[in-house]
Parts: sequence; C-alpha cells; structure tokens
Amino acid sequence: MATITLRQTKEKIVNQVEVKQFLQTQGVLYEHWNVEKIPTSFQNKFNLTPEEKEELLALFKSEIEELSARRGYKIWDIVALSESTPNILELVRKFEEIHTHSEDEVRAILSGHGIFIIKGDEATGYFDVNLEPGDVISVPEGNPHFFTLQEDKQVIAVRLFVEMEGWVATPYTDTEYVN
Ligand SMILES: [Fe+2]
Repeated sequence: MATITLRQTKEKIVNQVEVKQFLQTQGVLYEHWNVEKIPTSFQNKFNLTPEEKEELLALFKSEIEELSARRGYKIWDIVALSESTPNILELVRKFEEIHTHSEDEVRAILSGHGIFIIKGDEATGYFDVNLEPGDVISVPEGNPHFFTLQEDKQVIAVRLFVEMEGWVATPYTDTEYVN
C-alpha cells in the first residue's frame, strides 16, 4: 500500500483511507491489483525475458482491459528495472528530472518499489508517493512529476498508454521544487 510524504512539511500519510483521500483531492488515480496471484517463480526476479513479460501481462489481462476500457488506454507493456539493467544509474538520473506529458502516466507496480514525485495544488506543493506491489497510480496529463526507484533499485510495472507518443517528456523547470 502506498504512503505519502509531503516535501514542504515532511508530513507523512500512511493511513490508507487518508492516502486515498489525499490522492483524490490531488486528482491522482489510485487503485489496487491483486499481486498475490503472481507465481512464486517471479519472486525476486527483475530480469525478465520477453516471454516472462507476456506471462505477466496475460496474468493481469482482465485488470488491464477493465482499466483501459474505463480510461481509454490502447497499448501496454511491462517495464523491469534493477541493478542488472544496463546503465541503470544513468537511466534513474534521467528519470529524476521534472517533466510533463500530454497524456496521463499510469503505472501498476507488480514487484519491487517506485516513487512518484508529483506537484500538488498550491497549498500542498510537491509530494512523494511511495509505491508498493499492487499499487496502481496515474499522474494526470500536464501535471509536473518525476519517477524514481527506492533503495532496492528494483521494479516491475505495467505501463499503459493512449498512444506511445503521449509519453514523450516535456521538461518542466520549477523554482518551487523542494529537494
Ligand atoms: Fe513521466
């Protein structure tokens, strides 16, 4: 289950009802998929073959189709990152630049962890959403944000797109950003 850290005040939100409410007020989609059904053979496995990625997509077919029917996504894939990913440090550095997209950015975490740093409303400022397996999140289109990995530096996530071009990142310079 996700937790929130507000960057301005360092306040943490861990209660799941409050996390849901908070994200709702910020316009961020937050749902859950049942990751218990992932076979144990995938445990601690972050280096996936194309066949294994297909297996995971097939396992979550109904969740993907339901979410897509509701929100208009047309294509999806699996991203798997870990310390064995070539150029992982360079990749993460590239991720850690504030940007926007012309469509919303959806991620369903199947394994490992991730953090979305999102610009909230004026009173809230930037906040971190610390993501756990099963968390499904979508950053609204045009909303400044970036993604990074947690200490474990590993994640497997489903990405869904309306169209691949929608994911092009437009850099966003922000003096209000709190590091
Ligand atoms: Fe993004």
